[in-house]
Order: sequence, then structure tokens, then C-alpha cells
Amino acid sequence: MHSHLTLHDDQTITLRGERFKVYLDRETLQQRVAELGEEISRDYDGKRPILIGVLNGAFMFLSDLMKTLRIDCEVDFLKLSSYGAEKITSGVVTELKKIDADLEGRHVLVVEDIIDTGLSMQYIMDIMYEQNPASVRSVTLLHKYEATEVDVPVNYVGFRIKNRFVVGYGLDYGQVGRNLPDLYVLDPNTD
Ligand code: IMP
Ligand code: MG
Repeated sequence: MHSHLTLHDDQTITLRGERFKVYLDRETLQQRVAELGEEISRDYDGKRPILIGVLNGAFMFLSDLMKTLRIDCEVDFLKLSSYGAEKITSGVVTELKKIDADLEGRHVLVVEDIIDTGLSMQYIMDIMYEQNPASVRSVTLLHKYEATEVDVPVNYVGFRIKNRFVVGYGLDYGQVGRNLPDLYVLDPNTD
């Protein structure tokens, strides 16, 4: 099978014929995730939040984040339509997998990998509120603040990043690259 991912050295990769370089390395990611975990543990002390992971991109962040929580917590997942193989958002969001848990009266924490236009998060918030939860908050590893079109409140942000395409640490480019432990950015010298 033709391979889409080539690792050159510890800083650069080629993915689907395009060059990416490390943007946030694994230590930087893990350190920030631990800080978010501290903050969330403090804020939810005495409560038992249910983390709602947004598939597929958020699975790795959610896994690491959950391991840093020092409180009772539960997890469930929902899945939205993805970018396909494109690097720009289609702007159309649909629900591909619904959550199974009953959210009535629960403290819901939505866990996203990245907020770009904000359309996905707005759509998710609407779904959450329909179920009469006690509270809804959101955490995103990355926020492309310059790309945000709809103003969705985000309670916890890992990193505010420039409007550039990123892959790795759960985020994909046409479904590949999710397995990379570091976060990469499309090399500005090659686009
Ligand atoms: P939004 O609805 O435009 O905010 O897009 C959010 C979703 O688009 C995220 O959950 C990601 O799955 C995907 N996405 C946005 N930017 C990137 C990127 O730079 N790389 C990979 N996926 C991205
Ligand atoms: Mg996503």
C-alpha cells in the first residue's frame, strides 16, 4: 500500500506530499495538558463531570487529559462529520455518532481537539443543552482564534494558535497523521 506519511528527522515529516514541521512538541503538549487537568480538577472538586469527547480528533487529548484529573469523572463520545481530505472547513456540520449517556442534571465538559470556525462547537453546545444538563463547559487543546467565525464561549484553552493547518496528536490530514505524538504545522516555506 502506498504510504502517505514519511518521517524525515525529529522535526520534519511529509504527509500527503506536503512538508510539515514540529509546532508543539510532546513535552510542551503534556505539560499544558497537566495544567489544564489541575485547573479542571479544582473547578469540579466535589462534582462528577462527564467528559464528552468529540471524535475522532479529540481522542488523544481526552485520554491524556483524563489521566491528569484527580476527581470522579465519566466519559462518552460523539462524532461529527469531518473535513474529509481537505485542509479548509466545509462549514457543514452533521452528527455521525450520538452520545449514549443521559445528560440530564449532569455537569458536561465537552472536549475538543481544535476550534477553527467555531461551528462544530456551537453545534455541539446546542445538542448538549437540549438534554437539560446541570452545566456545560468546554475545553479545547487548540484555538485558531483568528479563524473563529461564531463566538462560542470556551472555558479552557490549551494553546491559542495562528490560522495554520496542523496535524498530529489526534489531528489528521485526510485521516492520516493522528498517531504522531507531536503537533506539526504545514511548513510555510512550501505552500
Ligand atoms: P470548526 O467547526 O471550523 O471549528 O472545526 C473544528 C474541527 O475541524 C476540529 O474538530 C477538527 O476536527 C477540524 N480542524 C480544524 N482545523 C484543523 C487543522 O488545522 N488540522 C486538522 N483538523 C482541523
Ligand atoms: Mg474534531
